[in-house]
Amino acid sequence: MTDSKVRIGVLASGGGSNLQAIMDAVKAGKINAEIAVVLSDNAGAYALERARLAGIPAEHVDKKDRRRREDYDRAILERLRAHDVELVLLAGYMRIVSMALVEAYENRMINIHPALLPSFPGLHVQKKAVDYGARFSGCTVHFVDGGMDTGPIIIQAVVPVLPDDDEGSLAARILVQEHRIYPEAVRLYAEGRLRVEGRRVKVRGQVSEPGNFMINPPLEG
Ligand code: GRF
Repeated sequence: MTDSKVRIGVLASGGGSNLQAIMDAVKAGKINAEIAVVLSDNAGAYALERARLAGIPAEHVDKKDRRRREDYDRAILERLRAHDVELVLLAGYMRIVSMALVEAYENRMINIHPALLPSFPGLHVQKKAVDYGARFSGCTVHFVDGGMDTGPIIIQAVVPVLPDDDEGSLAARILVQEHRIYPEAVRLYAEGRLRVEGRRVKVRGQVSEPGNFMINPPLEG
């Protein structure tokens, strides 16, 4: 583990609960990193307030006058470089990033998605899982490539879909696991233990194996 802290830039559009989970893990000394800046396309994003309350630089990057995705992302890139950001985290960020940003941060940009990719990419995925009748859903942390929710997967958590679940109850159950696996993915990155090999991410020194199955509904026998 290098002693120099990884400088993180977080892009968030909403409430920022994943940002908060990462802030808390950094503050608790679990991640060898520091959050250099939080950027948002939404001036009212509570994620910006969370950063300000913690004394972290927080900036609204206005979409006004930057209608084209490439122009907007050029402004984002300028702010990330101004803060000497090494690792970019998308955390409840509602914009599709352009190739300019993806290429500038190849294998150094990570996203969290509230479903078990490749199932249910896109939006409203908790509702899609409930409506489909899926027995399991979950969340995925992955590197960002040129596609939507298609980059190499770092870590996933499986969450059962329960008989009386609706979109909200499943989303809340998944969110609890998001707050566990996102900080873990950032910790592994900061310790230099992630290596992307094609579509797969190898984790150096993985110390334990998960339970090797989950069955939902549980067997009654
Ligand atoms: C989370 O479910 C996240 O996976 C999705 O947006 C939701 C809210 O995220 N991208 P946050 O509370 O703003 O981190």
